[in-house]
Amino acid sequence: MNKIIAKLERQHNLEKSEFRWLLENNTPELRRELSGRAQKVAHETFGKGVYIRGLIEFSNYCKNNCYYCGIRGSNNQVNRYRLTETEILDCCQNGYELGFRTFVLQGGEDPGFSDEQMVKLIEKIRRAYHDCAITLSLGERPKAVYEAFFAAGANRYLLRHETASNEHYQKLHPLELSLKNRKQCLVELKKIGFQVGTGFMVGSPHQTIDNLVEDLVFIKTLDPQMIGIGPFIPHHQTPYKNAKAGTLEETLLLISILRLLLPKALIPATTALGTINPDGRELGIRAGANVVMPNLSPVAVRKDYSLYDNKICTGDEAAECRGCLSKRMESIGYKILTHRGDYPEE
Ligand code: 5AD
Ligand code: FES
Repeated sequence: MNKIIAKLERQHNLEKSEFRWLLENNTPELRRELSGRAQKVAHETFGKGVYIRGLIEFSNYCKNNCYYCGIRGSNNQVNRYRLTETEILDCCQNGYELGFRTFVLQGGEDPGFSDEQMVKLIEKIRRAYHDCAITLSLGERPKAVYEAFFAAGANRYLLRHETASNEHYQKLHPLELSLKNRKQCLVELKKIGFQVGTGFMVGSPHQTIDNLVEDLVFIKTLDPQMIGIGPFIPHHQTPYKNAKAGTLEETLLLISILRLLLPKALIPATTALGTINPDGRELGIRAGANVVMPNLSPVAVRKDYSLYDNKICTGDEAAECRGCLSKRMESIGYKILTHRGDYPEE
């Protein structure tokens, strides 16, 4: 066995030069060996089970202007929508009946959906669904707001760091956004008691191998419960419309590395991975991921939550992502698990 892979599996960590070596030698043979080890490690904790999270994309308004993102505030060609509280609760009810025990409320940083409204919504979901986890993905907020969300009953928070290099961060975001603040939010969320998820896009514009090495080091240090990565995919109404997409191969390699780096982490095979390759999510699971996040948003709004071009699950055929993903997971010998799927306790 490759010595670096053996060391990563044994020590759950590597020197930067060793991470770099893996990223620079991304051959089918290396991936085969890495994903074999990563799968074995995932099976030790999760068996051949895959957790599902019901994703509710409740607002595509956003005050930010990330250069890569299709729903950036200054894209005036987006058909903006904001679900009402009743519509969101209907999504949860529908999800609950389909067996979901985690709801992920994701939206742009939408000033039109106030913190008070959010708190009320979380309280209602908490009261109606005692046995469910509530995950938020609402970007950067003041600490007091995170505390209020937690007190209202939210359990988890997803906030990708996007890149652990300051210089690279500024190539992806306008000046008013800073990596320092992003990292501070992550630390605060963790301290408050949220299970925290972070992550990055693979192959984002200007990303270097050294940036990816820094991402791995940052993630190991933060030690999050969840790690979401997916390929960057250009959106035609953004400044990076002509940038190249990230690759399937690099994303799979990184999923396997992350699985060996944080053996118990919850790692989704993302929609972006399923978008660059029709079997992307299945391949992600086989590379060491253990979560899928079917879309629960009303079909009518799905095409408007378009962070990147050609996003899957936006057409009429996608009314039932839950069934589609069950079949897909079964086709590779895995089974969807319908309990909450919290981070495994030590
Ligand atoms: N391609 C791939 N992923 C994207 N995201 C935003 N825009 C894109 C894109 N063009 C990711 C970001 C964000 C998450 C919600 O979606 O990493 O954190
Ligand atoms: Fe959405 Fe297959 S998972 S259509």
